[in-house]
Amino acid sequence: MKLLVTGGAGFIGSAVVRQAVAAGHEVINLDALTYAACLENVASVGNAPNYTFVEADIRDRPALDAALQTHQPDAIMHLAAESHVDRSIDGPGTFIDTNVMGTFHLLEAARSYWEGAGRPDTFRFHHISTDEVFGSLGATGMFTEETPYDPRSPYSASKASSDHLVRAWGETYGLPVVLTNCSNNYGPFHFPEKLIPVIILKALADKPLPIYGDGSNVRDWLYVEDHADALLLVVQKGAVGRSYNIGGENERSNLELVKTLCAILGEVRPKPSGSYADQITFVTDRPGHDARYAIDPTRIREELGWSPSVTVEDGLRRTVHWYLENEAWWRALQDRAGVGQRLGTGG
Ligand SMILES: NC(=O)c1ccc[n+]([C@@H]2O[C@H](COP(=O)([O-])OP(=O)(O)OC[C@H]3O[C@@H](n4cnc5c(N)ncnc54)[C@H](O)[C@@H]3O)[C@@H](O)[C@H]2O)c1
Repeated sequence: MKLLVTGGAGFIGSAVVRQAVAAGHEVINLDALTYAACLENVASVGNAPNYTFVEADIRDRPALDAALQTHQPDAIMHLAAESHVDRSIDGPGTFIDTNVMGTFHLLEAARSYWEGAGRPDTFRFHHISTDEVFGSLGATGMFTEETPYDPRSPYSASKASSDHLVRAWGETYGLPVVLTNCSNNYGPFHFPEKLIPVIILKALADKPLPIYGDGSNVRDWLYVEDHADALLLVVQKGAVGRSYNIGGENERSNLELVKTLCAILGEVRPKPSGSYADQITFVTDRPGHDARYAIDPTRIREELGWSPSVTVEDGLRRTVHWYLENEAWWRALQDRAGVGQRLGTGG
């Protein structure tokens, strides 16, 4: 397939690009190269004959029209977004601009391109979203595709809005859309402002390991390569108009997760004295911090035969090794604005 991937210089988008190129798809990576982007993430495929990079902003309609006309993709996989909840608390405007308005412009550009091509029913607009649109769970229960939307942060509200726009373009204009809502990802190339890289890098630097609140917030962790694999399956085999929840079936509280990371680090890079867990510090909670997310992945497992292949212990181990072996990559990103600082305290 010829795939136009937006946000392909980010964390998950770059995993999609690397896998899609390796699988022989023709890939056009369209990215505005914001603070969260890193072309190093796709350096391994940068010279592949089936890979092209286009620097463009999804809010720039003429640039989107030009990219679609030039490259004539069979499908758009839309991952470009502002993605950091803490930044959305400090500056929600960018999240509305990119995640809502950017998705609107991309939908309109896609509709015009698709109508111009004679409305092929093989075309796909695949919107990649998050489980955070469903809100927060108590101690039990799981998010299914039927769970009502209940976003609670500026980030999740902007993603929920974009999901609604995509469904509306499917219903109203017949654009062949498909959606996925995924749980927390982790793995190689994770930008060093997100929890897992923050913990690994602060642990190595002998700094306090900040845990929001009491660390009881539960997330369902999915290794990023598993997510990319699921996305490439959905764009090819997913039913039009349908959404699929993607999860890791790996629920962990933040405190458990950090303790596991500390134990792995202690094995592979032992401290001269004491344990990495001694560095754990509890800090003021994030305002509106959702208590628990958990995905019921029955639909994607039964209809498309997908399930995660990497356990959280194995994935965390691979991730720790990757950060130890790729110091030049993360050191270069630590100078970017806001990285390493506490953001999103709401005050
Ligand atoms: N990280 C997660 O755990 C997670 C989980 C579920 C869903 N998602 C969703 O997956 C997608 C990718 O997430 P990620 O963690 O890889 O994000 P990321 O922040 O690492 O990367 C986002 C990419 O989008 C690009 N981008 C941002 N604004 C743009 C614009 N206006 N025009 C063009 N490109 C732009 C950035 O340059 C960057 O390369 C997002 O839509 C996010 O909501 C993320």
